[in-house]
Amino acid sequence: MAQLWGGRFTKETDKLVYDFNASITFDKKLFEQDIEGSIAHVVMLEKQGVLSLDEKDAIVKGLTQIRKDVEEGKLAVSEEYEDIHSFVEAVLTERIGEAGKKLHTGRSRNDQVALDMKLYVRGEVVTVAEKLQNLLEIILSVMEGSLTTYMPGFTHLQKAQPTTLAHHMGAYFEMFKRDVLRLHDIYKRMNYCPLGSGAFAGTTYPLDRSYTASLMGFEGPTLNSMDSVADRDYIIEFLSALSTVMMHLSRFSEEIIIWNSNEYKFVEIDDAFSTGSSIMPQKKNPDIAELVRGKTGRVYGALVSILTTMKGLPLAYNKDMQEDKEVTFDAIETVKNCLELFAGMLSTMRFNAKIMEESAMKGFTNATDAADYLVNRNVPFRDAHGIIGRLVLYCIEKNTSIDALSLEELKAISPVFEADIYEAVSLKTCVDKRLTIGAPGEEAMKEVIRINKGFLSQFWTKESEKF
Ligand code: ARG
Repeated sequence: MAQLWGGRFTKETDKLVYDFNASITFDKKLFEQDIEGSIAHVVMLEKQGVLSLDEKDAIVKGLTQIRKDVEEGKLAVSEEYEDIHSFVEAVLTERIGEAGKKLHTGRSRNDQVALDMKLYVRGEVVTVAEKLQNLLEIILSVMEGSLTTYMPGFTHLQKAQPTTLAHHMGAYFEMFKRDVLRLHDIYKRMNYCPLGSGAFAGTTYPLDRSYTASLMGFEGPTLNSMDSVADRDYIIEFLSALSTVMMHLSRFSEEIIIWNSNEYKFVEIDDAFSTGSSIMPQKKNPDIAELVRGKTGRVYGALVSILTTMKGLPLAYNKDMQEDKEVTFDAIETVKNCLELFAGMLSTMRFNAKIMEESAMKGFTNATDAADYLVNRNVPFRDAHGIIGRLVLYCIEKNTSIDALSLEELKAISPVFEADIYEAVSLKTCVDKRLTIGAPGEEAMKEVIRINKGFLSQFWTKESEKF
C-alpha cells in the first residue's frame, strides 16, 4: 500500500478499502501521458520562477529516465501504488531526492488525471482515424475494379433493382467517411488543456496555462477550472463515434456473412480469415465477421456505462469518474482490432462477379425498368405497374425471367412491347441509365470515385498528420 496522502489520518486504510479505491491496475496505461504532462508542468513552473533551473533539470532528467527504463523493461510499474501518478512521483523522489517532491506543486490529481486521459484519448482519435483511412482505401480500390460488376440491390432483403458492386461498396465508403469526419470534429472540440485547473478552483501559483497547453500541442487552455476537472464529454463523444463505427462494421459484416453463405456465394472469405468446425469437416465459417458483429454490443456498452456514470454527478471532480477508464480502454482496443481484422478480411475476399450477375438477372430486378419502358411509350405509370406485375406473375408460373420471354409472349400481355425491350431491360442499360450523382451508373460512379480520392488525399497526407 503506497499512497500520496495520509497526514490527516490516524489509522491505516483498511486493505479492502485500499484495493477498492486503487486504480493502478488499469491507469498504468496512462504512464506515457503522465510523464509527458509532468514534464510540461515543470518546464512551465521553472519559466514562471516557481522552480529553480536546477530543480527543473533534475525533475525532467529523472522523468525522462523513468520513461526510458519502463520502455526498456528495466523498471516495472509496481501495482503496490495507488495509481500511476503516485508511482511516478514516488520513483522520481526515490531517485532524485527533495526536488522530486516539488513535482506536484500547483497541481492536483484531478487536473492531472483529466490531462492524462485527454492526451490518451486524443492520440487514440488519431490512431482510429488512420485505421479508418486504411479501410477507406481498400473499399475505394474494390470500387474502382467493380464499376460494371452487376449485382442485385436489396430492400427488405428482397431483390429490388440491379446495381453494381462499386455502388454497394460506395455506400460503406460514405459511412466510414462520415466516421472519419466525426473524429476530426471531436479532435478539434476536445483539444484544450485542463492542466492548471488544480483540484477545481485553479491555483495560487502564477501558472502560465497557455504555455503548458502549447507545449503539448493543445489549441489553448480550458476556460473554466471547475468544468476542466469534471468534463468527460470528449470520452462520451469518442465512444459515441466508435459505436457508430462498430454499427457500420456490423452491418457490413452481416452482409458479408449472408454473401458468404452457400445459398448466395457472392463472396468467398479467404482461408486465412475463416475458421473451421470441430465436428463438421465441410464447414468454413465467417467467424471474423461474426465476431466484429458480436463485439459491437460491447462498445455500445462502454458508451452507456459512461453516460450513466456521469449523469448524476455534482460539480466538480467525483471519484465515480475513475470508472471512465477500463471501459474506454476496452472499447478503443476492441474497435482498433476490429478495424484491422475487417480490413484484412475485405482486402483478401474474392467477389464472385458471375454469380452476382446471374442473381441480378433472376430476381426481376429489371421490373421497374420494364415499367419505365412502357411509361416512355405513353402508358400511364399506374397501368404500367399493373402490366409488369402480371408479367412477373406469368414468369414465376413459367419459372423464367422477363428478358427470356419471346416478343409474342410479351405482346400478349401488352401490345406496346417491341423488339427494343430486351436492350431496355438488360442489366447494363438498367444500371447505366441511372446517371444522377450518387446512382450506380458508370459515369456517375466515376465522378464519385474522383471526389472521394480527393477526400482521402486532402485529409491524409502524412505531413498534415495534425488534424
Ligand atoms: N484515480 C483517479 C481517477 O482516475 C485520479 C484522480 C484522483 N483524485 C482524487 N481526488 N482522488 O479519477
